[in-house]
Parts: sequence; structure tokens; C-alpha cells
Amino acid sequence: MLESFEVDTSFGSYKVKVGQGLHSKLQPKKHAMYLVDDYHLRGLKLPMESLIAIPALESSKNLDYMSSIIEKMRELGANRDTHVYAIGGGIIQDITTFVTSIYMRGLSWSYFPSTLLSMADSCIGGKSSINVRGYKNLIGNIYPPNEVFVDMDFCKTLGPDEIIGGLAEAVKICYARGPEVFEQYLQLDPLYPLIGENGVKVIFSALLAKKWFIEIDEFDRSERLLLNYGHTFGHALEASSNFEIAHGVAVALGMIVAIEYASLAAGLNGVGKDNSQRLGFYLQRLLSPLKVEIKAALQKIDMNTVFAKFEGDKKHRHTEYRMVIPSSEGGLVLFSSPKNNQTRSLIQKAYQQAFSVNDFLG
Ligand SMILES: NC(=O)c1ccc[n+]([C@@H]2O[C@H](COP(=O)([O-])OP(=O)(O)OC[C@H]3O[C@@H](n4cnc5c(N)ncnc54)[C@H](O)[C@@H]3O)[C@@H](O)[C@H]2O)c1
Repeated sequence: MLESFEVDTSFGSYKVKVGQGLHSKLQPKKHAMYLVDDYHLRGLKLPMESLIAIPALESSKNLDYMSSIIEKMRELGANRDTHVYAIGGGIIQDITTFVTSIYMRGLSWSYFPSTLLSMADSCIGGKSSINVRGYKNLIGNIYPPNEVFVDMDFCKTLGPDEIIGGLAEAVKICYARGPEVFEQYLQLDPLYPLIGENGVKVIFSALLAKKWFIEIDEFDRSERLLLNYGHTFGHALEASSNFEIAHGVAVALGMIVAIEYASLAAGLNGVGKDNSQRLGFYLQRLLSPLKVEIKAALQKIDMNTVFAKFEGDKKHRHTEYRMVIPSSEGGLVLFSSPKNNQTRSLIQKAYQQAFSVNDFLG
């Protein structure tokens, strides 16, 4: 089974293929260079003389490390005819997007995402985010690949938290796209483990939903901001747990907290209430294989630290907190609330309610 679609961008359009067995068909080409997650070195047969192996670590996404990759590319003879193949998750994608955009003012590139987060979400949209010294994702740009090959075979070696986290990002996109797309997505019953043709359909559905956002708002100014759903509440948990709670799992928990906050602060009702409850039930099922670990991590977290991390989110304004929450119309809305004691107590209540109602605490 092979699904495909095109993404239109101001850089031109690019094709996205979703299927199985795609990376094994990758034929070494003249003028090709490979930027590869070092995890894949043993599993893939690639020409070592034109390959740069990159450890998929946050420290590799550093501005200083970019110059060493550029230097290595120069030593290996990269020129304007060079086509770069990137194979790996979001870290390799961020690095390749950035490096190919500036090397000799731009090289063409193809991307094989290898984590579920990158397959179902980040592989389209063209964004890069690079850390500068201690500052995460401080700089970046937009430079989409020329083609994307999403190969389900990479899921075979991913653990439950990577699959569950990727599925959390996928349902987030489908929920953001609106009730009809969300309903169709739930029909696929996307849960761990994600395998075979259903897996292809799940990833394809999420990417098709994301295509709408990145075409209508290529530079992340309005509609695309809704894709931050779950992130403001979730990042605070991820950081407070010292990253014991994985990113995608934290996003799932963040979406649950946002549902509670929408009920408390915005009087969520109508189709929005029904839909967000359906999302809440689905997220509980999705997270259930990790429930013991999540409960243990949450019990160690201090809620004051969570709130301090929540306050530090760069999306807030000077006088207002900003967060994406479910709307009564059934989709999502960017919600602002004044920075006062009333809002703070509602936010704290939303965290507490989310975890007690869902039996993640106690
Ligand atoms: N550019 C974007 O649009 C975008 C969007 C979201 C996140 N990000 C960034 O992506 C990064 C997170 O990326 P990620 O979660 O995709 O993964 P990752 O690149 O951080 O990799 C996570 C781990 O999975 C391993 N791995 C990769 N493929 C594997 C496979 N098939 N089987 C087993 N292990 C595998 C890696 O070696 C690494 O140890 C963060 O730095 C985040 O800031 C970028």
C-alpha cells in the first residue's frame, strides 16, 4: 500500500509518499550525500564515503555543531549539484533543514523520517529549530525538502513511548483540523503497536490534515499556531519531570489538562464538549500501556515547579497567558487570559482535575 500527496509551498511543491519498504529501495546516486542518525548505521547499506553520521542528541542540534557538519560536507566534496538524503528523526531533520538551506545558498534534499513524531507530523512543514548554547530551538528557518519518503518499517524498532508520543501529535493535528477529520481519524483506532497498512493510513491521515495547516499558513503566523495544542501545558510537565516524561506523552497529558481548563475557564459546551470528551477518552486509551510509568513520574513532580515552567512558556504575552484549548465549535482556539490570581488558580485546578479524573495520581 502506497499513499501520496503533494505539498505546495512558496519554494515549489514537493511529493510525500507514505508506505512500507521505501528505504530499502534507496539507490546510491551520483553527487549524493547522506546525513544519517548514527542509530541507523548498522541497519542501512549506504556509501560510507559520502555519509555523515550524526548522533541524535539535543547537543548535536547546536549552532557550533552545524559548522562542523558544514566543514565535513566541504571535505567530502559537496557542491551545488549535491543532493542530500537525510535519514532520522526530528533532530536529523532540524539539522539537515538548516544546513542544506545555507550550504552554498541552498542544496536540494530528500527526507526519510524514522521516528513516529517525524513521520506523522514534523516531516512536512519545512521548519528547522537549532539550539544556541543553552537556548533550545532559539534560531531556525523554513526550507522544505524536495521529497519525503515516510516508511512504516522504521516503526518496527520504536518503543511504546515513541509510538504513543507520535500518535499523540497525530491526533492533535486531526482534532485541530475539525470534527469531521477527527471522527475519521478515530475510526482507524490508532493505538500502540502501530503496524502494517493501518499504520500507513494513520500516518497518511495525520499528514493530510497537517498539509492544510502548512499550506494556508506556511510561515506559522495564524492557523498553524493551533498545532501547539497540548504543548504549553505539556512542556511544563516534560520539563518538571526532568524529561522523564517523553515529549509526545507530555503533549498528550497537556491536551487532557487543556480540556479541563477549557471547561473551567471558557465554559466549554455543545459539540466542543462532546468532541473534547471523546478526545479525552481516546487519550486515556492511548496512554494506558504507560500508565504505571506516568503515574510514578507525576507523583515525583512538584506542582509549583510545573506552574513556574508553565509561566516561562515563550508563547505567553506580557500581561496575558496564551494557550490553545478546545472550542465549543468542536475545534481549537487560541485563548488569552489575564495574568492574575484567578487565572493562576484555574490553571492549577485544571492540572489537578486532569490527573485525578483520569486516575494518574493517587
Ligand atoms: N522541525 C520540526 O518541525 C520539529 C517538530 C517537532 C520536533 N522537532 C525536534 O525534533 C526533536 C525530536 O525528534 P524525534 O522525537 O523525532 O526524535 P530524535 O531525532 O530526537 O530521536 C530520538 C531517538 O530515537 C532514535 N531513533 C530514530 N529513529 C529510530 C528508529 N526507527 N528506531 C529506534 N530508534 C530510533 C534516535 O537515535 C534517538 O535516540 C527535538 O529536538 C525537537 O525540537 C522538530
